Amino acid sequence: MQTAHKVAVLVGSLRKGSISRKIAQTLAVLASDRLKLEIVEIGDLPHYNPDLEESVPPAWAALRREVAESDAVLFVTPEYNRSVPGALKNAIDVGSRPYGKSAFAGKPAAIVSVSPGALAAFGANHHLRQSLVFLDMPVLQQPEAYIGGAGALFDASGHLTNDGTKEFLRKFIKSFEAWIDRIRA
Ligand code: FNR
Repeated sequence: MQTAHKVAVLVGSLRKGSISRKIAQTLAVLASDRLKLEIVEIGDLPHYNPDLEESVPPAWAALRREVAESDAVLFVTPEYNRSVPGALKNAIDVGSRPYGKSAFAGKPAAIVSVSPGALAAFGANHHLRQSLVFLDMPVLQQPEAYIGGAGALFDASGHLTNDGTKEFLRKFIKSFEAWIDRIRA
């Protein structure tokens, strides 16, 4: 039997009704028993400031530990001003330090970008890829996941009602599972 993998999920939106969070929760349900997706909360992280390394804020330590203990990282994010939302960039900065002790290093990763708009947060998706190159994270290349028109995908109780998107997300998370197996083999 193949081993199961723990996947840390970083959601780029902090708001309660976030569509990105709903996509992340849907992916957790669609994943096979071999992937355990857990959202790592990033909303309470103090802004990254190297001076604070002398007395590490508990929220930083928790994020670093949760990412370090995971086998892979999934980023599900909206786009803010054609780039990565500040809260997510801050979480990446926090997890990547102190220098030489990045919690992210070498972990297989995947990105899903989400927008109510037609461009599907392409800018955030690719700016994030740029950071992940520097973090030395092997990122799933295909299928790329750009979820556009996302405002119309869920019903009032938060269930994904679009069958095409559901099928795509199922395929995507299966590909990520195979990618994690390959990188961690
Ligand atoms: C946005 N939004 C947005 N959308 C987009 O497709 N491209 C963009 O550059 C931006 N820029 C942007 C900046 C800021 C500060 C905000 C608050 C919003 C709209 C955004 O996609 C929309 O609010 C989503 O619903 C945010 O995702 P969540 O919170 O639903 O996951």
